[in-house]
Amino acid sequence: MRWHGAVAVVTTLLLPAHAIFADEAYHIDFHHALLGSPQPHTTFFHKPYSNTNASLLYTVSDKAVLGAVNPKDGSLLWRQPLAGQPVSNASSSYLIAGENGQLVSGHDRTVACWDAQDGRLVWDFTAPEGTRIAGLQAINGVEPVTGGVTQDFVVLAVAAHSNAHTTVARIAGDGSQARWQHADSSTSHGSSASIAVAGDHIYYITTSHGLLSSNKANIVSLDKATGKDVGQTSTPVDSEPLGSEGRYLTAVCSNFPFLISAEKPYKSLRLSLLDKAKVTTFAVDDKGEEIVDIAVVHPCHPAAASHFLLHIKSKNRQWAEVYHLNVKAAEFKKAYSLPATGEKSVFAAGNIEETVFFTRSTETEVSLYSSESHGQLARWSRPNFKISPGSLRPHATAEIVSRGKASYAVRVAEFSSSGNWSLVRNGELQWSRPEQLAYTTIAAWDENGVPDALAGELDLEASVNPLTAYGHRLKRHLHDMTGLPKYLQSIPDSILKSSPDADATARQNLVGTKLVVLGTSRKEVIALDATVPGNIRWQADLSATIPEGIEMKSIASGSGRVSIYLSDGSLIVLNSTNGNLLEHKSGTIPLNKLIQIPGRPSPAVIKVGNDGVPHPATDFAPNTAVEGNIVVTINPEGKAIGWTIGQNVEKTWILQPQPGFKIVNAVSRAEHDPVASIGRVLGDRHVLYKYLNPNVALLLAKSDSNALTIYLVDAVTGSILHTATHTGILPSSLTPAVLSENWLAYTFTSVNPTTSALSTQLIISELYESARPNDRALLSSLSTNYSSFDPDAAAARPHVLSQSFTVAEPISHLTVSQTAQGITSRQLLATLPNSQAIVGIPRELLDPRRPVDRDVNATEREEGLLRYSPVLDLSPQGYLTHEREVLGIENVLSSPSLLESTSVVFAFGHDVFGTSVTPSMAFDVLGKGFNKGQLVLTVLALGVGTLALRPFVRRRGVEGRWRA
Ligand SMILES: *[C@@H]1O[C@H](CO)[C@@H](O)[C@H](O)[C@H]1NC(C)=O
Ligand SMILES: *[C@@H]1O[C@H](CO)[C@@H](O)[C@H](O)[C@H]1NC(C)=O
Ligand SMILES: *[C@@H]1O[C@H](CO)[C@@H](O)[C@H](O)[C@H]1NC(C)=O
Ligand SMILES: *[C@@H]1O[C@H](CO)[C@@H](O)[C@H](O)[C@H]1NC(C)=O
Repeated sequence: MRWHGAVAVVTTLLLPAHAIFADEAYHIDFHHALLGSPQPHTTFFHKPYSNTNASLLYTVSDKAVLGAVNPKDGSLLWRQPLAGQPVSNASSSYLIAGENGQLVSGHDRTVACWDAQDGRLVWDFTAPEGTRIAGLQAINGVEPVTGGVTQDFVVLAVAAHSNAHTTVARIAGDGSQARWQHADSSTSHGSSASIAVAGDHIYYITTSHGLLSSNKANIVSLDKATGKDVGQTSTPVDSEPLGSEGRYLTAVCSNFPFLISAEKPYKSLRLSLLDKAKVTTFAVDDKGEEIVDIAVVHPCHPAAASHFLLHIKSKNRQWAEVYHLNVKAAEFKKAYSLPATGEKSVFAAGNIEETVFFTRSTETEVSLYSSESHGQLARWSRPNFKISPGSLRPHATAEIVSRGKASYAVRVAEFSSSGNWSLVRNGELQWSRPEQLAYTTIAAWDENGVPDALAGELDLEASVNPLTAYGHRLKRHLHDMTGLPKYLQSIPDSILKSSPDADATARQNLVGTKLVVLGTSRKEVIALDATVPGNIRWQADLSATIPEGIEMKSIASGSGRVSIYLSDGSLIVLNSTNGNLLEHKSGTIPLNKLIQIPGRPSPAVIKVGNDGVPHPATDFAPNTAVEGNIVVTINPEGKAIGWTIGQNVEKTWILQPQPGFKIVNAVSRAEHDPVASIGRVLGDRHVLYKYLNPNVALLLAKSDSNALTIYLVDAVTGSILHTATHTGILPSSLTPAVLSENWLAYTFTSVNPTTSALSTQLIISELYESARPNDRALLSSLSTNYSSFDPDAAAARPHVLSQSFTVAEPISHLTVSQTAQGITSRQLLATLPNSQAIVGIPRELLDPRRPVDRDVNATEREEGLLRYSPVLDLSPQGYLTHEREVLGIENVLSSPSLLESTSVVFAFGHDVFGTSVTPSMAFDVLGKGFNKGQLVLTVLALGVGTLALRPFVRRRGVEGRWRA
């Protein structure tokens, strides 16, 4: 061991002490770059260019985000939100693989062609006004001059308004023009329509629902080359369409599109081809159970044989039937069936040239079948595979590769009911993407924390008598000694193998772990580590507990429980360690917003109804609010109302904004907003006292004439402390605002009326007790007996300093970094939706005291002021996200860490991003500049010096005594 110790000392001397924080980017932060739930009809494996064997996984999610994922590791290669931003209400999107490494998407009114390799936009085409794309197909034609094969696209755009017509158009392969267009003025808007390409024709299918007669599908055949209507037929169909997206037509991406429908409860099927009048009906073998669902699984390749599979589900079992279709004879034939299992199955189809394969994945195994016969070609078991509960409809996409004779490799991209998108290769899980996080709407820090063992021991020692405490401590130290040899052994390793990762881990241990609890729009509750690498701890599915149309309004986590308040006023309580449902109490007061205020024995819950009236939640939280709580609410008429809440609720004031204005938002100081210093020291050592009133509220009012007025009110009396009005606000722009310490900030985008140029302003106002230094204004005279209801108090307005800065792009959200004591200076964290970034703006830059139009003089330099510049440069170093693109961020949370210097930041909305910021640098941890070697050398030199001087000192002492 001694030898190891020696090595440790030597290496410490030789190595320049490795900075603990080598390069922090990508070590202290994590980012889930998400797409949303992949849609079954827009997800496929595809080779991005023809001379490669490596295919990528492409999808368009239900949030209309197109993306390419590397099937090897699940990393996102590129993505494009088709609607500009991820949307929650995306109507259907379409995606097809074109030739020459291109992908063509259809969403809303836009057909766009993308480079499959890098996601570059190649061309786009816009469908007529008032329509929405409801079908997209590729058609191959022959170039008349050269004889080469060309690819064009057929687009179905259905009427979204009653004054628009449904059209079918053939777009040239380069997106330059519509070669022809077929408008259908007879079909009313709102009816379902689809298109398919087969042979020389394009089929345009609409369905009409007869009240008395049976349902009919009207099929119009269009000539591929000219778009001429060359024939119309109609076919009877049953009431339940079984194709994808609830349509009658299925297998549109293959060479054999057909109509399929059934009558509930799925006793029989009705099938027909588009160009043949013949209708085939099949009796479904229900195996003595009630069938609840049937889905069609088919290959999606022009070369693939016309075979398909029906996935049949009863309440308890699932099985499949495989059918063959003879297109020429219009004959459907049942080939074989796959056995029923109690486990849920997910089927997928794939092909190698014309040979079609089906895969069946269950929770315990993956098996492969040929479409020709029921013999299992391969089977892999899936050990340790567990999926979280969820309510989504699972689906899968498969890629099958032949590895010599009768040996296959199968990759299945599965979207599970819990929202994970994962790739299973030969039964082994390769990766899993947590796409459910893209639906996060609310989040809260978990306040339980992990109890610190040492802190617990120290608490124990403090609480007992000194003698016992001493004994306890002795025992503890002896126990610690047993770990010493191991620790000594590990020292050389930790020094030699110093890596950025190890350093990041060391840092993480200092920062502590943080957990956030998320609520999604799909009624899942997820506990996520807010620190690297951002793993999901548990996930609970509440879709069965939360009724339709009810959403989660508020989430709180503490004392081992996660409480979720719903918009109908009911409460769901989960165990915060595993997400198990503990309680579900229905409430009586529907709520719009929920506030927690100090109360006994625990915080009291106040529900604010849609009318803006607060009600203490007596229905299940029997806590009494502490007297004198102030709450400000906004009523539907846009007035602000102040309330005091204690034993009962009393209205104290009403603020009616100027005529034409409506208050739209109220902002208060964060619950945890510590103030380290009550004054600001100026360059000449005088002090400006901060106006620190915990009961202030910032109200934002907007008018129809695009003006914005802010009111800073004393929430106790309702008196207005400060107000400002801005005109020419861009109607759609967001006006985020924050209030912290003695300052407030807000931002808006305005339009210049003459040039219609847009500019974004960031306004900051600081409040001081007085304009004069060393003056506490009202407080100095009334300090013994101050009340804000005092007649003089109303006159005591704070001194407000404001300054405005222009920023280069709109800001969608503002928040302030939080630390434990508030000693660390603050950063304003601004979300930039256009750059898809979050930027930290140091508070010092946003100082309204920066001198305007002149250089700083000596005293101002002392104070740390810079000359004012109207344009605030958002420096790239300030980007918390570095070069990562965080898409669709709607909210950013900040929370103190165990280190005063460090604030933990968590952002959500679509992507999920977490990092930590150190606005005043990491002053409480050893940084890069710390030189271990020098320290050791100094200590050694001192030791050697002491030893060397000892004889000399002793001789002097002896001589001195002799002399005396
Ligand atoms: C693709 O795979 C085939 C068959 O395994 C092989 O012959 C060919 O060389 C591969 N091509 C590339 C570009 O790797
Ligand atoms: C989806 O929501 C956006 C914004 O809320 C709206 O502009 C759009 O019209 C909606 N689209 C549909 C299809 O409802
Ligand atoms: C939560 O679950 C854990 C582990 O199962 C258990 O120890 C704990 O008592 C539970 N907490 C509550 C509040 O039920
Ligand atoms: C700097 O300017 C401030 C504000 O005008 C003034 O109060 C101060 O005395 C000046 N200091 C010097 C050294 O001129």
